[in-house]
Amino acid sequence: MADKTATLTINGTSYDIPVLSPTAGPDVIDIRKLYAQADVFTYDPGFTSTAACDSAITFIDGDEGVLLHRGYPIDQLAAKSHFLEVAFLLLYGNLPTADELEGFERLITRHTMIHEQMHYFFRGFRRDAHPMATMVGVVGAMSAFYHDSTDINDERQREIASHRLVAKMPTIAAMAYKYSIGQPFVYPRNELDYASNFLHMCFAVPCEEYRVNPILARAMDRIFTLHADHEQNASTSTVRLASSSGANPFACIAAGIACLWGPAHGGANQACLEMLREIGTVDRIPEYIARAKDKNDPFRLMGFGHRVYKNFDPRATVMKQSADEVLELLGVHNNPTLQVAKELERIALEDPYFIEKKLYPNVDFYSGIILDAMGFPTSMFTPIFAVARTVGWISQWKEQLADPQLKIGRPRQLYKGETRRDYVDIEKR
Ligand code: SDX
Repeated sequence: MADKTATLTINGTSYDIPVLSPTAGPDVIDIRKLYAQADVFTYDPGFTSTAACDSAITFIDGDEGVLLHRGYPIDQLAAKSHFLEVAFLLLYGNLPTADELEGFERLITRHTMIHEQMHYFFRGFRRDAHPMATMVGVVGAMSAFYHDSTDINDERQREIASHRLVAKMPTIAAMAYKYSIGQPFVYPRNELDYASNFLHMCFAVPCEEYRVNPILARAMDRIFTLHADHEQNASTSTVRLASSSGANPFACIAAGIACLWGPAHGGANQACLEMLREIGTVDRIPEYIARAKDKNDPFRLMGFGHRVYKNFDPRATVMKQSADEVLELLGVHNNPTLQVAKELERIALEDPYFIEKKLYPNVDFYSGIILDAMGFPTSMFTPIFAVARTVGWISQWKEQLADPQLKIGRPRQLYKGETRRDYVDIEKR
């Protein structure tokens, strides 16, 4: 309900426009009736100043570097919670009781296998296919197998689809990895927790016992937690837009995976580690800083900058601490890539260009260093991001479907093309 109004005057006519108040963050000017009243569109490519929906899941204060999931700060969740508890929080709105958590974890654990016939989908890909390509294909294909959870108008089917996606994404990502390295698929193990199960499916082989390193399992779980949801980012907005047409949940999540793949978004973790490796040594950092500042050079510092954060990304702060811990505990001292990353961060944060443009390390700056130390190839970095973000996408998908105001998303445009003209026969052109 609007308790304030803004006045807009166009061509001498004034319009009182409702201003909506959030529980946190900026006020919102409600322009839903503007076109009908004033025959004008608003213009905001990239949605830098546009709220596309209302939501109660995640709040970001970019100036203060604050990230809350259902009101809980990300640093507290990373330190005290674990991924499936955060998944419950995102999906259902509150931290679970012990019984609720035990039931949720049992439910997810028992949905981790995929339909056996889906194994054949992988065979259609080249072995060197990027695992993200495989995931887009296989997740989209889930709608060909799980017909009993594609009716978005059935609350029970929405719940089943949600649990299937959270549970099966690690299995599909691990299978995409195994397929890419020519190793046999490893089935999930019900005695393992979510993160340990993923590591086991990625790194175990049938020839010997594989014991999950608890340090790596904790680090993996924390990486999942730090990537779980992030308000209306590009891939979440893609899932919401796809869902607004009534598309089934598997198709919507496949669309989110496709959008996440881009290097400006979830693909930045792979691009960042490859950039750090290309820089190679601390003495080459100034050359790359100069390139990042050169308007004529398309190069950007991967893992730096953010549409919303104009301060430290709180996830990057936790990730940096985790990188130090994991590498120390693994005995990987003086990891050259970590040294380059820390020196690059130090130099960039003292550089007027980065200070003026408020460019800080984001969630992708340190994550790749940990994943690399854990034994993952860079091609698996974004699939791991997709595994974690699935619960965020699904939470936002459920929230949108429960919104009585839901309409199909259909933006307009500022048309800059030809006005009407008549067809010209070819002999007269
Ligand atoms: C994620 O939205 C989310 O929440 C995303 C995410 C999530 O959890 O879902 O947080 C995950 O995607 C993190 C971002 C990962 N991407 C990268 O690390 C790629 C490198 N970063 C940039 O491409 C860029 O910073 C973006 C895409 C992240 C943000 O771009 P914006 O908000 O559109 O900002 P912009 O491109 O308008 O940049 C503002 C200025 C520009 O200079 P001017 O045109 O004003 O002169 O800053 C410059 C840019 O050239 N700039 C950079 C830079 N990022 C922005 N210059 C050098 N290096 C960079 N990394």
